[in-house]
Parts: sequence; C-alpha cells; structure tokens
Amino acid sequence: VGSGTDLPAGRLAVPEAELSVPGGLPDPLVCADGTPVRTPADWWERRRPELLAAFEEHVYGRTPNGAVEAGAQVLAEGPALDGRATRVETRLTFRRPAADVPDSEVPAADAADAVAVTVLTYLPAAASATSPAPVFLALNFRGNDVVENGSAKDSDPVQHPWPLAELVDRGYGVATACYQDIDPDVDDFGNGVHPLFYASGQTPGQTPGQTRPGEHEWGALGAWAWGLSRILDHLRADRRVDAGRVIVAGHSRLGKAAIWAAACDERFAMAVSNNSGCGGAALSRRRVGETVEAITSRFPHWFCPAFAGYAGREEALPVDQHQLLALVAPRPAYVASAEEDTWADPAGEFLGAKYASPVYELLGVEGLAATEPPSADRPVVPSRLGYHIRPGGHAMTDGDWARFADAADRHLGGFPED
Ligand code: GCU
Repeated sequence: VGSGTDLPAGRLAVPEAELSVPGGLPDPLVCADGTPVRTPADWWERRRPELLAAFEEHVYGRTPNGAVEAGAQVLAEGPALDGRATRVETRLTFRRPAADVPDSEVPAADAADAVAVTVLTYLPAAASATSPAPVFLALNFRGNDVVENGSAKDSDPVQHPWPLAELVDRGYGVATACYQDIDPDVDDFGNGVHPLFYASGQTPGQTPGQTRPGEHEWGALGAWAWGLSRILDHLRADRRVDAGRVIVAGHSRLGKAAIWAAACDERFAMAVSNNSGCGGAALSRRRVGETVEAITSRFPHWFCPAFAGYAGREEALPVDQHQLLALVAPRPAYVASAEEDTWADPAGEFLGAKYASPVYELLGVEGLAATEPPSADRPVVPSRLGYHIRPGGHAMTDGDWARFADAADRHLGGFPED
C-alpha cells in the first residue's frame, strides 16, 4: 500500500491504487508548522482558521468583510401546489453604504451601486413560528421560473424543474435564486456584487478605481457563496424557517459554491455537493477529469487569480479539497456523484469525503462510513458525512434530491413535532 513510508511531515499516505500521485495529500490534522492536531480545541483554535485562510489565499480568494446595505421587498406571496405550499418571491437589494460612495459619484447613475437578487421560496403551508420548516437553499442556473416550470427550450439537465412538491410534502422548504443575479458568470468584475466592495478612496489607505479582484481576493465562487449567506440572513428573518436547519446545496459550479459557503458560514446546518468536481469535492491532486489548468483557463474568474498559479503543479497547493469538506465538520455534509460524470471525477469526489473523515471523528461524530466507493447496487453511504453515486451523467435529478432529503431527515431530524 501506498507511498506511506517516505512522506514529508504533514502528508497523508494514500494507497497508490486510489491516488497515483506521489506525496500523498496534505493532512487536515497537521498544522502548517508540523504540529499535530490532537484535540477539538486544536482544530477550532488553530487548524480550522489556518485552513480557511489557506483556501482564501490560494483558491477562492478572500471575501471582503465590509458592510453593504441590504433591503428586502416582497414581490408576491400566496398559496401554491394546491395549497400545500406558500410561495414567496422577494427582491433583495444590496448597496454600497452611502458613506462609502465617493462624493463625486451620483449613485443612481452608477449601476454598480446596487445589486438585486430575486429569491423564490416554497415553504410547507403548515410551517409557522411554532413549527418552522427546515429549508434547502440552492442557487439555480437558469432562473427561478425554470426551477418551477422547467424550460421547453432545450433538454439541458439544468433546465429541469426541481421536485418542489416532493420536498414540500416531506416537510422541507426550498429557497433559490439565479446565481447570475449575484454575479454574472463572465470574466468581468465590473458587474455583480464585487464592485460594491471596491476601494472607493474614501477610507484612508484605499486605492480608488479598483476594477478587478487582487491576487488573493474573491472571484465568482466567492461572490456566489457570499450571496448564499445573504439569502440565509433573509431566510433566518422569516419565522416560518427553522433558522438552525438551513441546508446549502448546489450542482456543479454551484456545488463548489455551496461547500465554500458552508465552510465560511457556520450558520448553514448542512452542505450538499452534487457533481461539484474540480474546485468542489474532488481532489485536485488526482488530476483526473478537470484539472486546475483546465478550470482556470476556461473559468479564470471563478477563483482568486493566485489559483491559476497551481495549474500543472497541484502538489504545491497548500490545501486540497478534502480539507474544504473538513471545514464543514461536524455538521452533516453530503457528496453526490454520477457514474458517467467523469469530468467531475466521481472517485475523486468520494475520496474528498473519505479524507475529510478524520476531522469529523476528531470532533466526536461519524465520518464517512465507507473506505471504498459504493457499488451500484448499494449506492448510498448514509453516514453523517454521506455519499451516493448514481448511474448517468452530470445533472441534479429528482432522485438526487430525494437522497439529499433522506440525509437531512437522518441527520437534521426531519420536520419537528409541535
Ligand atoms: C464546466 C466546468 C465544471 C463545472 C461545470 C458546471 O463543466 O468545467 O467545473 O462544474 O461546468 O458548472 O456545470
């Protein structure tokens, strides 16, 4: 087995058959200075902050912690699904604080001063302040109307409607917004939420006129994750929502954003990654399917600029994606793969979960209860750090959703009794 014997300090031995990369993986339970992480306190006080900072610095970029002014306006509210659900549409608006806008700028003339995100929420009709519903929060690719109604235009799986009725009937609310509302998915940082945080020159030490993130500043994934947290703020203010049981989920690039959001924001009760692949649950060091080079050349704007520097030299990355899943611990996390989705490296996604497990165990909860990828006849690993693989290609299917709800039932306790 493996390259275990001559590993540098802080490297995990990984059997060759699983990961044919010499040098193993960075160990989530060894600090950058080589100190072992032996207790939960070591994890919370030293290792977790250090890993989070490393993901910011080298992968997703730092999210600014400056304030924005947020507003919420209900656009529509009423019964849906034959009265089984309450459907709410809300427009969230984010603005640069007035104090931060240079005197020379006329806010109304500058589109970058306000970003509007339309949030669609379905809640079980019975949800109330005394019996609030757990909610799945997931961004969508093509607009809220496609989540509800699908699209007749083409057969791309991202056009499929979501199983809202099934989820509501199981006691779950669903909240969604189009990711493009938060930050358009193009290599241009003059739109979306980034400009709300650009240096205005008003604060001493700032350079005015910034138009792109710096080397270690957030890209689009960071912005989508930030948006998820702002939608969470909004959901938590609704007493029909169980604030302690909001599950962040996402497919593909939005699965990457979902895990990053749960890593950054511990208010999310659980994270679900569907076919998230490179930059999500899959180990970068495997270089199977999409590589750092492939993703940073096609989608340079998703990450901080520094991440592209690891193209072809993944072994130099101070982190790998099992450590991102470990940042969700001890909260439940669920990784889903599809057999034919080789671009996302299903085995690499499984291993991402597997090598996050030691952190769950250190924190006194169950990690991934499997050491080998599950077989097609028993595809679900139902542990607190859970996993499934299904036949077929890159998509988030009704069957995937049903398993996310199974995992939430199991680990977050289902709909409360009143
Ligand atoms: C591309 C990209 C993936 C991404 C996917 C998606 O295939 O290479 O990294 O996950 O798009 O978001 O659908």
